[in-house]
Amino acid sequence: MSARLHGEVAHIRPMAEADVPAVMAIEQRMYPFPWTERIFRDCLRVGYACRVAEQGGQLAGYAVMSSGAGEAHILNLCVDGEHQGRGLGRQLMCHLLDEAAGRAVDAVFLEVRPSNRAALHLYETLGFNRVGTRKDYYPAENGREDAAILALTLAFPLQ
Ligand SMILES: CC(C)(COP(=O)(O)OP(=O)(O)OC[C@H]1O[C@@H](n2cnc3c(N)ncnc32)[C@H](O)[C@@H]1OP(=O)(O)O)[C@@H](O)C(=O)NCCC(=O)NCCS
Repeated sequence: MSARLHGEVAHIRPMAEADVPAVMAIEQRMYPFPWTERIFRDCLRVGYACRVAEQGGQLAGYAVMSSGAGEAHILNLCVDGEHQGRGLGRQLMCHLLDEAAGRAVDAVFLEVRPSNRAALHLYETLGFNRVGTRKDYYPAENGREDAAILALTLAFPLQ
């Protein structure tokens, strides 16, 4: 899938094992408490939707989604610092939501730190609503931070 973003072409494709080192480099730059390489390899092994976005031939972002029993869970969404603010996060999310719809998913869930203004703005403008809180879900500099649980219901045309 290709999409024109601010005059640039973003290409979204399945993540391969060979992408994991580049993905890990971004993960460690962008998160204070990053996933391990093992988690990404496990997500690939069990067949989760692991996607990468390339801009100008560079791996610029990635996203991971699990799905089953009519539900999908966005497990990770990340855009490298120098590529942020160009619509790439939105493009990755739209790609995953298209895939979820194609898998007859009724509802998409994700967790986000309430302090993550950029991510919250993105999810809310895509139609996600806050449906709950997971207490002390995330590690934080001073202990733990709650997670906001967001959900989006996907509408299907009647047959
Ligand atoms: C969240 C993230 C994926 C967004 O990616 P991005 O490519 O920068 O996002 P986009 O360029 O598509 O912008 C999406 C929206 O967020 C808004 N936004 C971007 N940075 C923002 C900020 N610091 N505060 C508020 N809104 C912000 C943009 O204005 C845009 O909204 P608009 O289309 O209404 O103008 C990116 O910031 C990131 O990877 N952060 C680190 C990892 C992370 O926190 N992932 C989410 C975990 S739940």
